[in-house]
Amino acid sequence: MIKSINKICIVIFVMSGVITGVTTAHAETKVSLKQPPHSLEQWYKPANKRQVWLHTMFKLRREMQAVRENAENGDKAATLKWIKRLDKHYNKIADMVPEWEKEIKPRLIEELEMFAEKGDTYRLKKTLKMIKRTCDDCHTVYQPLVTATYRSPYYDDIKLKGQDGTIHSFEDNMEQLSRSVNRTLIALDDGHIDIAIQSTKKLGEQLRTLGDSCSGCHKDDAYPQERILGNATQQRLQKLQTKISAGKVKDSQDLMGEIAVTVCARCHNTHKIVSDLRNVLLPVE
Ligand code: HEC
Ligand code: HEC
Ligand code: HEC
Repeated sequence: MIKSINKICIVIFVMSGVITGVTTAHAETKVSLKQPPHSLEQWYKPANKRQVWLHTMFKLRREMQAVRENAENGDKAATLKWIKRLDKHYNKIADMVPEWEKEIKPRLIEELEMFAEKGDTYRLKKTLKMIKRTCDDCHTVYQPLVTATYRSPYYDDIKLKGQDGTIHSFEDNMEQLSRSVNRTLIALDDGHIDIAIQSTKKLGEQLRTLGDSCSGCHKDDAYPQERILGNATQQRLQKLQTKISAGKVKDSQDLMGEIAVTVCARCHNTHKIVSDLRNVLLPVE
């Protein structure tokens, strides 16, 4: 399921050129991304029932905020309560991924507790900043690849059953869709009405085939599918047939444009962009 990679190091250069008058200043930031340890996989779907790692992170962020705000408000009991939770979850980082033990500084949480007990808010906040730095250091190096690896869906495993019963891949379906869209546009341009009608029918079938795949990931939620392939799309496809049959080329072209935006682009914006990013970051071995 998850492609395994040995060791990769991706270097991203962020160039920003600032032009002031006749001089040009270049600032160059270099970030090296490291491959996360394999032990992380067990804390993510599908190896785990829940996204345990990610939810631990959300807790840490809430706890950091709670400690700071309660300390600022002088509520010592609440501050100490949240420090206990922070302590637990911060240490969970190394429990869950032993390879990352060196990335955290549990000693800082002890200091945090000491400053809270003393009511030394100034030092407490300084310590929080030091803890925050350990969060940021790990995020800079690991977060992008972890998000790409464990939180983006993988389409290669999806098999689609065509209306004629043939099985094909997600990628085949995309190529067919693209061909039907373009064949329709070409036929409209050339005044080949029959071909245009045929290929929009094909497009409708291919979209129904694709629609069967949605529930594989969107299990208890019909809304994502409705939004992209639901009623509005069905109506556009029907209207398209009517317009083409009536020889209304301009209207048909406009409708094709609407379908490309509301069906193809809208889905690509959530699914394809992340998928492309994942494929770039995680090349097949
Ligand atoms: C599930 C939502 C979804 C819908 C709806 C959708 N696509 Fe895609 N499309 C994707 C994803 C995801 C990929 C990338 C697949 C991958 O990386 O394996 C993709 C890839 C593609 C590709 C590139 C294929 C390749 O060889 O890499 C084309 C072309 C394409 N889509 C065309 C279309 C057209 C045209 C439509 C509308 C008629 C459409 N798609 C509708 C999700 C969608
Ligand atoms: C040893 C590495 C490491 C340390 C230390 C660490 N994190 Fe993370 N954190 C990650 C990784 C990896 C991700 C990416 C998770 C993902 O995208 O599923 C992440 C993601 C997050 C996110 C989710 C961001 C988002 O919206 O997607 C939050 C919030 C977060 N961390 C908070 C914290 C806080 C607060 C601390 C420090 C108290 C911390 N983390 C320490 C590795 C770490
Ligand atoms: C391989 C898994 C996968 C498949 C197949 C899939 N999706 Fe998604 N989709 C996701 C993930 C992951 C998200 C982002 C998290 C979320 O919102 O659930 C998402 C988000 C969305 C969203 C934006 C969030 C929302 O609720 O509006 C829409 C719309 C959507 N998908 C439509 C579709 C449609 C339509 C299909 C079928 C043609 C489809 N998806 C197939 C995994 C998938």
